Amino acid sequence: MGSLEMDGLEIEGGIPLHGDIYVSGAKNAALPLLATGLMCDGTLTLTHVPDLADTRLMIELLAHHGLDIGFQDGRVSMSGPATNMDAPYDLVSKMRASILVLGPLLARYGEARVSLPGGCAIGTRPVDLHIRAMQKLGATVELADGYIQARAPKGLTGNKIVFPFVSVGATENAMMAAACASGTSQIVNAAREPEIIDLADCLNAMGARITGQGTDTLTIEGVASLSTATHRVVADRVEAGTFIMAAAMTGGSLTVRDIIPHHLDVLFDVMRQTGVGIDIGDNFVTVSANGRYQAQNVETQPYPGFPTDLQAQFTAMMCLAEGVSQISETIFENRFMHVPELVRMGADISVDGRTAIIRGKDALLPAPVMATDLRASVSLVLAGLATTGTTSVSRIYHLDRGYAGLETKLGACGARLRRIHQS
Ligand code: UD1
Repeated sequence: MGSLEMDGLEIEGGIPLHGDIYVSGAKNAALPLLATGLMCDGTLTLTHVPDLADTRLMIELLAHHGLDIGFQDGRVSMSGPATNMDAPYDLVSKMRASILVLGPLLARYGEARVSLPGGCAIGTRPVDLHIRAMQKLGATVELADGYIQARAPKGLTGNKIVFPFVSVGATENAMMAAACASGTSQIVNAAREPEIIDLADCLNAMGARITGQGTDTLTIEGVASLSTATHRVVADRVEAGTFIMAAAMTGGSLTVRDIIPHHLDVLFDVMRQTGVGIDIGDNFVTVSANGRYQAQNVETQPYPGFPTDLQAQFTAMMCLAEGVSQISETIFENRFMHVPELVRMGADISVDGRTAIIRGKDALLPAPVMATDLRASVSLVLAGLATTGTTSVSRIYHLDRGYAGLETKLGACGARLRRIHQS
């Protein structure tokens, strides 16, 4: 294990956060948007791209495919053609979203060889829906040596794709592939996440003909090619939601800026029910907390439901609520890895299958804890911020995958965080 993997964060907690905090572009929008660069006959420029381990990895993958790509000050410019159709195991295994190159390569070049992502800490996360969507569009797909080998030498053909359940990534792959298929496609039971709308908007700016984004049915009239465009990445609603809960848990007051408030409607409803003050502006929200808040139950659901990517943070928040809350995770199995770590900090949580029962306490205790995935790790940071004393979170490399400048942003609002380089 390299020293970077051992980096930790020391948190001097118990300080209410106050001030303004600015939200970056969304990781989960940026990753598919970057992949569309493979389909662009011209130059695709993305702005407000968050500087994260995951976006850098996607940029590395696109460079590996042969794109001429540069990233500076939140701006990515890329142009083709791609010369290498292989997405190798060593890159794909580091980031599951690498599977998003499958649709673009197949649509634009008629072939793709993409490693299967392999195991993942938050469940098995298969890619069968992605593969079936490509087959529906006329590709032949073989699985051999751990690779998806897909071919459509005469191009893809539009078709109706009906997903048995909602998948964000499979919707994105299908939409990108169908954008350059011949004829019209329909994607039924499509994901409705804001990141899907953002991707459709960018593809349309490149010349695609997509309608229905934000609803459960997408209609895509295939076009022969996509060309030069500039697109700004939508705000990160998960990062915003994390800061909102940080303010509540520390009993502080934060104005979270550069957001699209209606993307967080469900979180605002839940926060108001807990008694936390939520004051919404046109592109910001002011969160104010005073003392303890009430327990609330939530169940994760595809958008517009409560996001699974905010479940770990909300679990941490409920550890300090008044009363008992029940949190059900319906999207991923095995997404409660933060629970044993929160219990080490004195939380009272029991997990039964996909439901966690949390009996709120008036305080947690500092302890050394370990991050196991991106959202779990930030939930431990939130718990540390709300706990008097020094909490050390190890393996925080997960944090760098999804939170740009976290220590700087929180530090400017009064948090005391220190990164520890361990050898
Ligand atoms: C995306 C997000 C991730 C978020 C998740 C759910 C990105 C880069 N990541 O992940 O942060 O937690 O949406 O909101 O945008 N599934 C299958 N077969 C498939 C595809 C998915 O069974 O072919 C299952 C998954 O295992 C999971 C469920 O479908 O149980 C939903 O996953 P999906 O929406 O596809 O998540 P991702 O796109 O991987």
